[in-house]
Amino acid sequence: MRRPVIAGNWKMNILPSELEAYFSAYASTVSEQCADFVDKVVAPPTSHLFIAQSIASKLGVIISSQNVHWEDSGAFTGEVSSKMLLDLGIQYAIIGHSERRQFFGETNRTVGGRVANAMKANLIPIICIGETEEERESGLTEKILVGQLESFLNECEGQGDFIIAYEPVWAIGTGKSATAETAQETHELIRSKLSETLGRNVADRTRILYGGSVKPSNLKEYLEQNDIDGGLVGGASLKGDTFAQMVNIAGEGLLN
Ligand code: PGA
Repeated sequence: MRRPVIAGNWKMNILPSELEAYFSAYASTVSEQCADFVDKVVAPPTSHLFIAQSIASKLGVIISSQNVHWEDSGAFTGEVSSKMLLDLGIQYAIIGHSERRQFFGETNRTVGGRVANAMKANLIPIICIGETEEERESGLTEKILVGQLESFLNECEGQGDFIIAYEPVWAIGTGKSATAETAQETHELIRSKLSETLGRNVADRTRILYGGSVKPSNLKEYLEQNDIDGGLVGGASLKGDTFAQMVNIAGEGLLN
């Protein structure tokens, strides 16, 4: 049984001065009973990490970075390293989000480097993969995803936990989510690639999240799929009460 993860990716949204209100809306909506069964992760911008960590840790919410570099330190303006994050008590980092790939020159090679550094440092990466609409329509989904997986899976061998987020690019921020069946088929493919590369045990324990227009009204159908272990949520995670509702939905399925 894999523990579900509900991860909110704030992207470049929410002000530091809005953090208190966000987390108090979260706290007044979340059911502690449900939340006990769920890993709750929020990824604010780098500027907010310190203060977010101090508020969220009291609520059992894990704070994640939205990125991490492949070196520990050096002349890399605008970047943040695993060592810096761990020094703040931050244990998670999103890597390879499609917006990084699309707007900031992220490639499979740089994703592999970032994952390698994170894994060595014992930081848990949430590694994003996904095909574009064009790639899906040309029947290239499997090829693209396998290429993305191969760029980092070797770095995970013999290391600690890592999380994969399958986010079809055409479903991100578009309101056009993949059907639960399409997402399940793709997650199954990802898990079989994990099994082939890192063995059955790793494949069985690794959480694979679906991302792309996830919201309270469609989360349950994703979570009902065998190979979907949670959600990486953008737009719908920007309000503390909506984020809490999704945590409740994930936990409700596990009560009894
Ligand atoms: P969305 O974003 O939920 O707004 O589609 C998901 C993501 O980019 O992680």
